[in-house]
Amino acid sequence: MKKLTMSQLLAEAEKNNCAIAAINVSNMETITAVLTAADRCKAPVILQLSPLQCNAQNISYKQIADITELIAERFEHGAYTLHQDHGGSYEDCVSALNDGFASIMYDGAALSYDENIANTEKVRAIGNDFFLEAELGVLSAECGEQGKIDDSAYTKPELVPEFIERTKADSLAVSIGNAHGIYKRKPKLRFDILDKIHELCSVPLVLHGASGIPDEDIRCAISKGIRKINFFTELDKAFMSAFLEEGRKGVYMMFAANAAQTAMTEKAAELIELCTEGKIIC
Ligand code: 13P
Repeated sequence: MKKLTMSQLLAEAEKNNCAIAAINVSNMETITAVLTAADRCKAPVILQLSPLQCNAQNISYKQIADITELIAERFEHGAYTLHQDHGGSYEDCVSALNDGFASIMYDGAALSYDENIANTEKVRAIGNDFFLEAELGVLSAECGEQGKIDDSAYTKPELVPEFIERTKADSLAVSIGNAHGIYKRKPKLRFDILDKIHELCSVPLVLHGASGIPDEDIRCAISKGIRKINFFTELDKAFMSAFLEEGRKGVYMMFAANAAQTAMTEKAAELIELCTEGKIIC
């Protein structure tokens, strides 16, 4: 399986008017599940992990990169890139870069507009030889639970040109009614806001919190310029329910882990197909 850069993958997505699924991984089982799905779909995928995941699994970005490279060698088809998800500080970003990640996210969305710009600029000042995702607008778990978002949380389209100009971010994560975690009610994406952002934004757009967004809304978001789509909760649920079901039979961990990996592969393949729509064959 080929390793490509984030720029290459998002350029392919732009050319083909589709998106690349970005799936969170944190160990050998989840990496194997996602790469197996990409190979089966003959499609590209983004493997990403956040500092929270590194801490939870007591694993470094470097270890994840090494394991991924070894596992990818097994597969003939598909392509992947590695990305740091939700770097919350300058130090988080430096740590991923030092460990060989060439694509990172600085997430200053919860800060004021000026602080978000200042911190993103500081990360950009490290260099121009890596891909930088930034975020404008606030995503929160509560938005998902309440099914609605306070207007101030949405990305303000009029701020986008200045934000990109000053931060020199390579992609932009937006808040248009999406939220991380489980949506208690059907999410209502503000496609009118997305249209305006797309019109004004010179870099590829990213949609976080895609678990639980109906397929037709994912397709609509792609048609309106979303090029990277982040999924975690749906895959985690697929993994955990298979793991627990097998575990209840009293089997050894390796059999439960195998069932969990298979369930995650099925879900990942579904989401990869949904995003790339068979338009990028590799
Ligand atoms: P979900 O867990 O809601 O799919 O969100 C994943 C995500 O956006 C990771 O950055």
